[in-house]
Amino acid sequence: MADTSELQVGRTPIVLGIETSCDETAAAVVARTADGQGSILSSVVRSQWEQHRPYGGVVPEIAARAHVECLDEIIASALSEAGIGFDDLSGVAATAGPGLIGGLLVGLTAAKAIALVHGLPLIAVNHLEAHALTAGLTEGLKPPYVLLLVSGGHTQLLLIEDVGQYVRLGTTIDDALGEAFDKTAKLLGLPQPGGPSVEKAARGGRADRFALPRPMLGRPEPHFSFAGLKTAVRHAAQAAAPLDDQAIADLCASFEQAVVATVVDRTRTALRIARARATVDVLVVAGGVAANQRLRAGLSDLASREAVRLSIPPIALCTDNAAMVAWAGAEHLARHDTSALDFAARARWPLDADATPVIGSGRLGTKA
Ligand code: KG4
Ligand code: ZN
Repeated sequence: MADTSELQVGRTPIVLGIETSCDETAAAVVARTADGQGSILSSVVRSQWEQHRPYGGVVPEIAARAHVECLDEIIASALSEAGIGFDDLSGVAATAGPGLIGGLLVGLTAAKAIALVHGLPLIAVNHLEAHALTAGLTEGLKPPYVLLLVSGGHTQLLLIEDVGQYVRLGTTIDDALGEAFDKTAKLLGLPQPGGPSVEKAARGGRADRFALPRPMLGRPEPHFSFAGLKTAVRHAAQAAAPLDDQAIADLCASFEQAVVATVVDRTRTALRIARARATVDVLVVAGGVAANQRLRAGLSDLASREAVRLSIPPIALCTDNAAMVAWAGAEHLARHDTSALDFAARARWPLDADATPVIGSGRLGTKA
C-alpha cells in the first residue's frame, strides 16, 4: 500500500469505495492526483462464497444480510490500512447497480450515511463502469480502448470512448461466460467455482477429441451465446458415459478450445468495428474469466495479429473489488460529477443506454 504522507493527505483527492453488488463485501481507499494518476491505499475484499456454497449459487437474501453484518468492519479496515480517517476523505463512492438490489441498498445506504455525517460528496457508481475504468488505475491507461468483460454475470465488449462515454459493441444473448464454465463444471461433477476446476482438468486433456460448436462465429455483430455450447457438452458427456478422468479432461479442453475460438472471433469483430469509430490500440480484459490461461493465450495472439496491446489488470482487480469503485468515483469527482443523496439503487443499469436491449443477456442485474 502507498505511503499516505507522500500523497499529501488533504490535497490529493482520496475516495472511499464500497462494493456490495453480489457476493463480495469490499471497501477500498484510492487516491487520484490532479494529473489523473491513481494509487490504491487499501483494498479489502471479503467473499461470502462459503455462506452460499450449500445452495450451489448466490442467494440474494443471504448476500444482503452478510453485507450488513460485515460492511462496517470492512470499511474500518480499509480506512485503517490506508492510515486515514473519514476526515481525510474527499468523497465516498458506492456501487449503485447493476446487481442484487438488497446488496446494492446496503452499500449505497452506508455510503449515503457517511456522506451525510462527514459532509462528503457521494458518487453512485455503475459496477460495469468500475470494471471498465480499472486499467486507468492500474496503468494510467486513457481512453479510447476496447474492453472485453468476462465474468460470472456479464459478457460484453465495449468501446470506452471516454469516462462516461461507452458504446456497447456486443453482449451475450444467454449465459455469461463464467456461468458457462460454472455450468460445465457442474455437469461434469467438478467443484465450484467452475472456471478454475475446468481449467485445471483441461490441462491433461486433448482439445481435439470432442467436436463442439463455436457459437456466433463470423456473425457481423460481436454478440456471444454459450447456452448451446453447454448443451453440446452435456450431449457429448452423455454419449461418452461413464466418464473417466481422461474423458473429463478431454471434454474440458475441448470446451475451452471452443470458448477461446468464439471469444477471439467476437473480439476481433469488435476491434474492427471500434477502429472504424476511434483510434484504438489497446484491448483490455476484465472479469474473473480473464484468469484463464488458454483464453489469455488466444487473446494475446489476436492482439499481435490486430496490432493492439493486450492489457489485463492484476487478477485481484479483474474480479469484484472496491478499489475499482473508488477509482470510478474519483474519476467522476475530478469532473465534479457527483450524485444526489436520494440516488436510487438500480438492479439493471446498462452502461450504454442507447444499445438495443438483448433478451437474456447473461444474468444482467444479478452478478456482474
Ligand atoms: O468477476 P468474477 O470474480 O465474479 C463475478 O462474476 O462477479 O468472476 C467469477 C467467474 C466465475 O464464473 C468463475 O468460474 C470464473 O469467473 N473464473 C474462471 C477462472 N477463474 C474464475 N473461468 C475460467 N477460468 C478461470 N481460471
Ligand atoms: Zn463484476
